[in-house]
Amino acid sequence: MSSLAKIVKIPTFVDPTGKLGFVQRGATIPFEPRRVYYIFDVEPDCNRGGHAHKELQQLVIALCGNFTVKLFDGFVSEEFNLNSPTEGLLLEPGLWRELTDFTEGSVCLVLASAPYDESDYIRDLNEFTAWVANK
Ligand code: TYD
Repeated sequence: MSSLAKIVKIPTFVDPTGKLGFVQRGATIPFEPRRVYYIFDVEPDCNRGGHAHKELQQLVIALCGNFTVKLFDGFVSEEFNLNSPTEGLLLEPGLWRELTDFTEGSVCLVLASAPYDESDYIRDLNEFTAWVANK
C-alpha cells in the first residue's frame, strides 16, 4: 500500500558538544521553504490542524517531544507518530490533517512552501471531501 506521506531523514551532525540538523531544498525536501512556523504549549488533550491545503507543501518536524499526525486524503487514513528532530513528515497538498496526542513540552516545527494564505486552506471536512471528488 502506498503511503499518504513520506518520512524524510534530516541530515544531522553530531559532535561531542551536541547535534545540529539542517533542511534545504534538494535531497531533504522538494520545495524552497518560504515560511516557518511552530506550535508549542499545546494544552493537554487538545488537537491542532483540522484542515487541508490546496497547494501548500510542508515538512513537519517534532523538534521536542512527540505527537501524532493523522492524515486523510478523502479515501484512506493514515497516522504517523513524530518523535525525533532527525526526521520530518513531508506533506503534499490535498491532505486533511489533525495533530493530536502532544506530549508536554512538544514543539512542532513546520517548513512551508509559501507565505500564509487563508485561501489555500480548506477548514471544513465536507468541503474537503467535495473538493477531492471534483479534482
Ligand atoms: P492554523 O493554521 O489554524 O493553526 P493549526 O494548524 O496549528 O491548527 O492557524 C491558527 C491561526 O494562526 C489562524 O488564525 C491563522 C494564523 N496563522 C498565521 O497568521 N500565519 C501562519 O503562518 C499560520 C500557520 C497561521
